[in-house]
Amino acid sequence: MPLRNIRTYPDPVLRRKAEQVTEFDENLKQLVSNMAETMYNAPGVGLAANQIGVLQQVVVIDASEEKNNLMALINPEIFDGEGSVTDEEACLSVIDYGAKVKRFQKIKVKALNIEGKPVEFTAEDWFARVVQHEVDHLNGVLYIDHISALKRALYKKKRKKQLREEQAAGHDK
Ligand code: NI
Repeated sequence: MPLRNIRTYPDPVLRRKAEQVTEFDENLKQLVSNMAETMYNAPGVGLAANQIGVLQQVVVIDASEEKNNLMALINPEIFDGEGSVTDEEACLSVIDYGAKVKRFQKIKVKALNIEGKPVEFTAEDWFARVVQHEVDHLNGVLYIDHISALKRALYKKKRKKQLREEQAAGHDK
C-alpha cells in the first residue's frame, strides 16, 4: 500500500473545500488505508484527504500515545463546542512551524464510519483539538488562519525563503 505525498503550504489544494463522500466502497477503504499509512509514517496524529490532494471529506486520526487507535471519520461535522484552551499546534502541511491556537475544550462530533454508519461522540482536550484541526482542513482552513496576521505573514515569508533555497539547491519538491 503506497505512501502518499503530503501537500505543503502554499499548495492551493489545501485551500479547497472537500466534497461529501457518498460511496462507501473499496476505493474509500483504499484511500483510508493509504492515509493511515502516510499519517503513521510522517509521523502525525491526524491527516485530512486534502493534504494528499484528494478533495473528499475523509480524515484519519490516531491521538493515542501507543499509536494503536486509528479512527477514520467520513463527512465529519462538529455540532457543538464549549470551553476554550490555547495550546501549541503544528501541521504536516505547514512545515517547520508551530504556534499556539485557541480551540474548544470539548466538542460533539457527528460523522460516518468507513461502512457509512453514523457515529456520534464527544471529544475533549488534545483529542478535541486534533478533530477541530482536521475538520478545518476539509473546509480549506489551516491552523495558521487562527493565529495573528503578523505571525502568519512572518511564516509566509519564512516559507517563501525556504522554497527559494530549495529551488536554488536543485530540489524538486
Ligand atoms: Ni494539519
